[in-house]
Amino acid sequence: MALKDSQTKMYDHSEVKVRLLKLYLERYLNIMNSLSYIKAIHLFDMFCGEGVYYNGGKGSPLQILEVIKSIHEKSNGNKTMPINCLFNDIEKWKTDKLQNEIASKALHNKEMGKLEFSNEDYKNLLPNTVQFINKLKNEKAFVFIDPYGYKEIRMSDIRNLLTSKSSEVLLFLPTQFMFRFEEKGTPESLKEFISEIVPKDQWPKSETGIDFIEKLNDGFQNALGDDFFVDSFVITRDKNQFFCLFYFTSHIYGFDRMQDAKWEIDEEEGRGWQYEDDTNLFGGVAKTPNTFILERKLKEFLVNPKTNSDVYKFTLHQRHKPSHTNQVLLKLQAEKKIEVVNKDGSTARKSSFYLNYKAHKETPDKIQMKIII
Ligand SMILES: C[S@@+](CC[C@H](N)C(=O)[O-])C[C@H]1O[C@@H](n2cnc3c(N)ncnc32)[C@H](O)[C@@H]1O
Repeated sequence: MALKDSQTKMYDHSEVKVRLLKLYLERYLNIMNSLSYIKAIHLFDMFCGEGVYYNGGKGSPLQILEVIKSIHEKSNGNKTMPINCLFNDIEKWKTDKLQNEIASKALHNKEMGKLEFSNEDYKNLLPNTVQFINKLKNEKAFVFIDPYGYKEIRMSDIRNLLTSKSSEVLLFLPTQFMFRFEEKGTPESLKEFISEIVPKDQWPKSETGIDFIEKLNDGFQNALGDDFFVDSFVITRDKNQFFCLFYFTSHIYGFDRMQDAKWEIDEEEGRGWQYEDDTNLFGGVAKTPNTFILERKLKEFLVNPKTNSDVYKFTLHQRHKPSHTNQVLLKLQAEKKIEVVNKDGSTARKSSFYLNYKAHKETPDKIQMKIII
């Protein structure tokens, strides 16, 4: 069967998918590497593809190895934790091509960790992966799931991969195709997929592809419960065609790093990506984060006193970076619209709001802040 163009060439919308993966892994792996109690990381690329496309685009396995290699090189001979990779694709010719590419570019050496390839059907690989992750102690796992469609994927896969809380999952779903089917008579595989998230009769109708993504995000979140964070990054292909990366973690710091990665790509909204052609008059203009809604919600949130940890969590739940809230708080402080006090009630140091993971963990109630009405 002839391959579709999108299966042999890497387009901008596919490139952005692996860009987010890479940006996130840079942040995630660097921090894991600095934690002495983490003994190893295991990365699973369940639908890895051939590594390099005919137009030279680099697929997920090459991006993953580039991040690991760079961490290793920056360590200057200091011991780094092993970062083990499993690259799986049902097509053997693809992993053969990938293996050759890795060898010819010298992208891997033994000191970086183990490197394995397999050609399992995802359905069969999944239970073994879950079993492996469930046994991890002081080790972490990251699973990238990037299928062509959605038929193989089940909500229960994601739940099973996350149960032990030692793992994170990044899942690409062709949500536009799912949304279109939702509109025009639903195939059995989509019914099964949805009914695992919300009973089909309670599935709210979506008006647009974006609306569908938001409902799916909420559905995932409700199905997994408060112990997990779910996030989405929208990739716009052509006109009004919305595809999506969903990210799942049980760790607030992972969620923090994902916000950072998302805002690096979408500097205005931190929400998604769309193609901008060279004729866009505003293309070269520096972009700044849109914090208008954040400010409004923060003012409402601070009607009652909140600690630095409360505000840190609030910020991430608003899908913003702590630096954005910091900017808003600086402005409110300059306008004398907030009161910030230490634990003992004395006035806190100006311009310090302790909105970071370390303070959230170690000094969650260092300060309290409240809006002055
Ligand atoms: C969207 S592509 C992956 C692209 C890759 N992540 C990248 O960045 O280049 C999906 C891949 O899944 C493989 N595949 C299809 N069905 C599969 C299955 N049931 N199990 C494992 N791999 C499968 C295909 O051969 C294809 O290479």
